[in-house]
Amino acid sequence: MAAAASVEQDFQSYLARYRAEHADDVLVVDEAVSSDQDITAVVAALAREGRHPLTYFERVEGLSTPVATNVFASRERIARLFGVAPTGLHEAYQARARKLLVPRVVASGPVCDVVQEDGLDLRTLPLLRHFETDRAPYITNAILIAEHPDTGAGNMSYHRSMLHSPTEIATSLHSRGDLWRLLQLAIERGRPLPVAMVIGAHPLFMLAGSARVPYGTDERHVAGGLLGATMEVVRTPHHCITVPAAAGIVLEGVIDPAAKVDEGPFGEFTGYSSDRSTNNLLRVQTIMRRHSPILVDIVGGNSAEHLNLARIPREAEMVEKLKQRFPSVTALHYPNSGTHFHAYVALKQMRPGEARQVMLGLMGWDPYLKTVIAVDPDVDVTRDEDVLWALATHFQPHRDLLIVDGLPGSALDPSASGVGTTSRMGLDATRGADFHGVRAKISGRASERAEAILRRR
Ligand SMILES: Cc1cc2nc3c(=O)[nH]c(=O)nc-3n(C[C@H](O)[C@H](O)[C@H](O)COP(=O)(O)O)c2cc1C
Repeated sequence: MAAAASVEQDFQSYLARYRAEHADDVLVVDEAVSSDQDITAVVAALAREGRHPLTYFERVEGLSTPVATNVFASRERIARLFGVAPTGLHEAYQARARKLLVPRVVASGPVCDVVQEDGLDLRTLPLLRHFETDRAPYITNAILIAEHPDTGAGNMSYHRSMLHSPTEIATSLHSRGDLWRLLQLAIERGRPLPVAMVIGAHPLFMLAGSARVPYGTDERHVAGGLLGATMEVVRTPHHCITVPAAAGIVLEGVIDPAAKVDEGPFGEFTGYSSDRSTNNLLRVQTIMRRHSPILVDIVGGNSAEHLNLARIPREAEMVEKLKQRFPSVTALHYPNSGTHFHAYVALKQMRPGEARQVMLGLMGWDPYLKTVIAVDPDVDVTRDEDVLWALATHFQPHRDLLIVDGLPGSALDPSASGVGTTSRMGLDATRGADFHGVRAKISGRASERAEAILRRR
């Protein structure tokens, strides 16, 4: 049996270990900061300097908890969760995500330190305002768990969550994923949808929250696979939804299918403040929390953290699918510059038209994509400059561009239609069989001499 207790399952243990092992990758801010935008501003200022440390704020005015943020801002840090280098991340993620591990229900755990069902006041929770343009304070690390009414399979997904009243939260299901499907089922059956909101858990549980698995797979089992251990869970008091026993804070309640409330605007992954919302209302019935939780916040907007958290599971799934169907594919990357709307794919094209077919595959599978650029394998898809150089020198618009229109896309794309339809384009920047350019080259000996000169400086 896997010794579950020996594998860390909570954020506190993760943070303590990470601080001990990688002190140079953790920034501790010990002076008091405001809960009104200071945290977003510090992370944005660091990013402008090209720095993405895990950032820990010891004192936040008005909050009784410290705040940890930017956990997912660096690919290297995410790769360390799997014990690999960033180049091995996709494979390591898929290997663990496939090993589904059923959680073990335990009677109690740290999240049961305080269980409150009467006299609830959500204003006692640690809440941050992230942007000047946000309507109100938001919980950005809200993983909603809902169970299928017939099978009990649990779905986990992130939903921006705004304080609406002392006992209610306004939220949005605009990505119209599996939680939205479960809500449609609840509407058909004329029942409220029970949910549990997990705020603050081990980073591998958080990655499972954005996993893309077939509808019906219990994503708590994916979390176990990612953790590499049987996850210990407790049942919530009203609806018996199983949640991590080691979570920081859990809210339990129901999404009222009939209620529509104002929600947004909120600073979104596009870099724009968006009020496109499904305007749902979550009535909270229980607050469960540790005695001393840490608020684990997700930096909003088009921050590296927000983009990476959604992107790593998406890229890992897509690159595996693509390589299975198209063995010529060598690499895939979604650049931060394109939010979730751009992808770069490298392939060793064996026959004319193959790059187009690969791009169409990607555009068909990923509903968020708008632009795919295909390049040869010698182009480093992780570098915008290299891909744009290939586009500049290999691509002829009249010949190498394909556009498909009228597809469902992200409703948050401010350039998409109000109902979220979009067009997609594929740009074939592979050289192709008739390309006759000769790369300007520097000899190996000259390069060695240059390196030696620079080493002596
Ligand atoms: C940090 C973060 C915040 C997100 N916020 C929202 C949100 O507010 N509303 C939404 O519908 N999707 C949001 N998403 C996307 C969903 O969580 C994601 O698409 C999810 O994995 C869908 O899963 P599902 O198909 O299992 O429901 C967010 C994703 C991340 C990583």
